[in-house]
Amino acid sequence: MELEREDQLVLDGEFGETRRLMMEILVALGKVFDAERMIPIRSAQVSGASYKTIGEYGLEWLKGLDARAAVPAVLNPIGMDRNRWREMGISPDFAKKQAEVISAYEHLGIRLDCTCTPYYLNMTQYGDHISWSESSAVAYSNSVIGARTNREGGPSALAAAIIGKTPYYGLHIVTNRKPGLVIDVDGTGTYDTSWFGALGYIAGKLAGNRIPYFRGIRPDRDQLKALGAAMAASGAVALFHVEGITPDSRVFSYDITGLETIPVSSREIGDLYKDIPVDAVAIGCPHCSTEELGAIAHQLEGNRVRKPLYIFTSRAVAGNARNSIEIIERSGARVFSDTCMVVSPCMDSYQAVMVNSGKAFAYVPNMCGAASRIGTLEECIRVACS
Ligand code: F3S
Repeated sequence: MELEREDQLVLDGEFGETRRLMMEILVALGKVFDAERMIPIRSAQVSGASYKTIGEYGLEWLKGLDARAAVPAVLNPIGMDRNRWREMGISPDFAKKQAEVISAYEHLGIRLDCTCTPYYLNMTQYGDHISWSESSAVAYSNSVIGARTNREGGPSALAAAIIGKTPYYGLHIVTNRKPGLVIDVDGTGTYDTSWFGALGYIAGKLAGNRIPYFRGIRPDRDQLKALGAAMAASGAVALFHVEGITPDSRVFSYDITGLETIPVSSREIGDLYKDIPVDAVAIGCPHCSTEELGAIAHQLEGNRVRKPLYIFTSRAVAGNARNSIEIIERSGARVFSDTCMVVSPCMDSYQAVMVNSGKAFAYVPNMCGAASRIGTLEECIRVACS
């Protein structure tokens, strides 16, 4: 891989050990994927932020680093709400370790927005090269915004944040962004966000790491968010196209002749909705938008929850949705920021959790040790209140 002179000096250790190590990570990645050069990036999003997922080894590694991010960079959700962790039932020992993780990232110049929806922070636009690592954020930024990122790991996103560059390969290259599979959805009618999450859960398994091209659906932005997040969880989808909706599908008018075409029916999607008893409900995977918080508030107004109902959003979105949050919390539900039902230990004590997200539906069993049930937002609220 061709390195500019300054990058070579970084690799030679002229700008400190941490930068040398970060450049070494990027160069190794570039060599694996035959990148010819590095390109500058506009932003980074760094995963590996919850003490639940990185543990002591990850924390010690982070503490040994000493440099500052060269581009705007934000952190993925951590294991607790930074202000209300006691209300979440987080132990003081966990909170102490999590605080150490946060301060290690702060030392590296990573912004503590702690969200998997950094696109609500206006960090990126069509055509930007970025290095994001949380899989649903990657799917959204590539597909819905039309930015360009590979599905980075935590260390490679951190390395890109500190160096301000990434190797030019994979989804940064326009010709690699063509569809590899057509998914024809028999989906006439009006469906809620969970339906798109359930579709994504099925489509991700069909697609694996191919780039799906959907026909037959007209999702809005929150529904696209749910679709991409679920496909990134049940498969390894980092980019998808929806005919006539997502930006690349309109800019490039892809020729899909000859691609494998798989039908998905509403009946298959409906089969995922099973009526099993649950002892908690969690909404906000990925983190809720202001519109989603408004819809939840609308349904909870005047009601009282009888089961724990957790709602997750970013601190920035929460700041713009105070009225909705007040209504939601008056019902007894709780809205937490910085964290989520999967990366926090707060859901680990439940037997079965109801969600309205295809991604959470896929992750809750392994990450929280609970059975998962998917339902519409309306069903989730009804179950929480009954
Ligand atoms: Fe975000 Fe956590 Fe879901 S990081 S996408 S809310 S698993």
